[in-house]
Amino acid sequence: MTKFPKGFLWGGAVAAHQLEGGWQADGKGISIADVMTAGDNNTAREITDGVIPGKNYPNHDAIDFYGHYRDDVKLFAELGLKCFRTSIAWTRIFPNGDEDEPNEAGLQFYDDLFDELLKYGIEPVITLSHFEMPYHLVTEYGGWRNSRMIEFFERFAEVVFKRYRDKVKYWMTFNEINNQTGLNEWGLFTNSGILVKDDEDAEKLMYQAAHYETVASALAVKIGHQINPDFQIGAMFAMGPTYPATSNPKDVMKAERAMQANYWLADVQCKGKYPNWLLRYFDRKHFDLDISASDLQIIKEGTVDYIGFSYYASHVIKADDQEPVDFMTPTKNHEVQNPSLTRSDWGWEIDPIGLRYALNWFSDRYDLPLFIVENGLGAFDKKNADGKIHDDYRIDYLRQHIEQMALAVDIDGVDLMGYTPWGFIDLVSAGTGQMDKRYGVIYVDKNDAGEGTLKRGKKDSFDWFQKVIATNGSDL
Ligand code: BG6
Repeated sequence: MTKFPKGFLWGGAVAAHQLEGGWQADGKGISIADVMTAGDNNTAREITDGVIPGKNYPNHDAIDFYGHYRDDVKLFAELGLKCFRTSIAWTRIFPNGDEDEPNEAGLQFYDDLFDELLKYGIEPVITLSHFEMPYHLVTEYGGWRNSRMIEFFERFAEVVFKRYRDKVKYWMTFNEINNQTGLNEWGLFTNSGILVKDDEDAEKLMYQAAHYETVASALAVKIGHQINPDFQIGAMFAMGPTYPATSNPKDVMKAERAMQANYWLADVQCKGKYPNWLLRYFDRKHFDLDISASDLQIIKEGTVDYIGFSYYASHVIKADDQEPVDFMTPTKNHEVQNPSLTRSDWGWEIDPIGLRYALNWFSDRYDLPLFIVENGLGAFDKKNADGKIHDDYRIDYLRQHIEQMALAVDIDGVDLMGYTPWGFIDLVSAGTGQMDKRYGVIYVDKNDAGEGTLKRGKKDSFDWFQKVIATNGSDL
């Protein structure tokens, strides 16, 4: 007997910049993903000053979904997908981000893509901003440190909401909006187009940028509901529960504060208000942020309809011996390895029960429908002598996570809308820019050096996931 409700949204997730390619096709502008080079397990991606000839920018061509989407969608239909999560590349619609009028060719591309999906009964699930804002908005306006970003984002949201009013029902505003709370270069740039200058306080900048994003998100929710009251517009968070390293109350408090510091954006987007501990923190730090009464009103009125989240791994944290009384040391958190868990080739801890924990945590706190819009195992796949990829490790990972999902639904009564494993077709990694960090049940013949025929193929996990969907999760 399946534990999942009728109409459960089994699907697959991707993001425009990680698979489309066609970085200059039909008037597309340069996005922030277009100025990030390829890295690997040990080398961070470089954010270059514009596009520099001779550098390797993996997102420029990616897997050329732009040119292959009709055949790819056919394969998605064969897999049995009920929904397909992708994003709209903002730079296809507004190449620089600050134009008054949209680029018709870009709009047409998504019309064609959505029509193709709907032809097979696959529901599009669309993220408005997934690490791909126009680069021009970074160079001209400083990214989301500038409140003008709100107006540019609103224009973009309104145009696509109106255009796809009758084709798309499920939306999300900002992908993994909380990544930037870690204050690292990658998170600040991919979330907010922010490069911190020497004389700037990264933490203050992050709070300001994230605030403007929550206002923009709330306005988008309000506008979207006016355009089509049936729209379901969600937030999207990177969820990686943080556990205390020991039962020492200091570690427990530290883990609690780490969760608060990571998920205050969920309070703002789901409850429509800032948590008290954070308002006190702003005061103590004398941040003097630009948060107006009217912003707070907009945030209150524009709460989201559901919570979308990614889940890959959990974390463990230890308090300093001299932990400050506020337990806030954002750049000096002591993460430790979890001795009970194994890790992926990229060091991500594999914790299926953590997914059930996360579902319960969100559900108890916000009482909203939940949607797991990313989950999966990044791994090196090897072709066997028979030319096939036997990825039982990926099947095991997905199976164990779906089992926990089933328990959360069946035993815990969590209201879960769907499950879209990440990168179900191999694509460019956001963190490292690699192709060989593969998540897919569909193989794409292209490697880290950019070589390959781009030919698509089915891994063993394809047949397995096809069966899972066909049986609504009862045959794992
Ligand atoms: C999330 C993002 O961070 O995780 C995706 O929403 C990303 O864009 C995914 O690709 C997996 O991370 P990575 O670094 O393995 O690609």
